[in-house]
Amino acid sequence: MLKFTTTSAPEPTPAAERETILENPGFGAHFTDHMAAATWSAERGWHDDRVGALEPFTLHPASAVLHYAQEIFEGLKAYRHDDGSIWLFRPDMNAARLQRSARRLCLPELPIEDFLTSLEQLVTADAAWVPQVRTEESLYLRPFMVGTENFLGVRPSAIVDYRVIASPAQAYFTTRDRGNQPGGVRLWISDKYIRAAKGGTGTAKCGGNYGGSLAGQIEAQEHDCDQVLWTDVDGEGLEESGTMNLCVVTRDGELITPGLGTILEGVTRDSVMEIAPEHGLTVSERRITVTELAEGARSGEITEVFACGTAAVITPIAEFASERPNVRDVVVSDGVAGPKTLAIREHLLGLQLGKIDDPRGW
Ligand code: COI
Repeated sequence: MLKFTTTSAPEPTPAAERETILENPGFGAHFTDHMAAATWSAERGWHDDRVGALEPFTLHPASAVLHYAQEIFEGLKAYRHDDGSIWLFRPDMNAARLQRSARRLCLPELPIEDFLTSLEQLVTADAAWVPQVRTEESLYLRPFMVGTENFLGVRPSAIVDYRVIASPAQAYFTTRDRGNQPGGVRLWISDKYIRAAKGGTGTAKCGGNYGGSLAGQIEAQEHDCDQVLWTDVDGEGLEESGTMNLCVVTRDGELITPGLGTILEGVTRDSVMEIAPEHGLTVSERRITVTELAEGARSGEITEVFACGTAAVITPIAEFASERPNVRDVVVSDGVAGPKTLAIREHLLGLQLGKIDDPRGW
């Protein structure tokens, strides 16, 4: 078992500077004083585990990750509750997903308890960086693993580095509000790019998926959209919304979310599916098409659409655009965020921030 003991004390960021950052952290722009680290080699397995100063990597230019993108990561948050205590939300789910991603990218699996220890040790060392909650502030944790052997042959790296870094965070997205009503984001359906195909890496949380998504994101922005609505290879089946999972709510009280296979198995997605029945919704995991979405939004059969993920929690989706004649500009429920979307968001944040009872021990 790894211990991730704190081995070196970095020069801490001055308290006043840290407090200024915590007042308005943004997302992913500021980093704490420490990081957790461990190395794996084919001969020794996992070793050299520690929490030390956050510091740059030194990589040989032939390092495997720089050439063949053998990289995976996770994202989860530490929340400060009103009594000052600090909590993670379902970190075992992230541990298991990191293992699945590792298998897909031929990286070594980090045992679940070692993953959890790395997070606990880092958050303990950087406890002063976990913000007080005003709306949904947290400390975003980014565990990742990269192949670091200096070798240009194409095969799994025999040396792998694991790190966890941490970054104070606040709300990830701004939505397009409608007067004084909360609105949502506008999504672009691309006919040029897809994110994943059967047998590919769509279910793995690997950097390549996100690098490959950027051209679609730029295309979306060029069309005054905030994110891409990714479809399957046929261009019809809905898959993901930007970097998040997608949920559609119908007038009849069904919550539909695309089934697994080529999408990321989101922790927030799973949590939404668990709590949705408490909001009067029947959950269906199934294929839903662009045509169904456009027709359903127009007829009023589809009343709400939202995206869910760790970074943004729940983001209402208000509009869709594309170059397709039947989906030029589709607005869901006049672009106003729906009651189920807002209630599920409140429910999840309530659990994460310790404001409501958590019967599942998440
Ligand atoms: C998340 O919602 O956790 C994500 O995956 C977004 C992240 C890539 C910024």
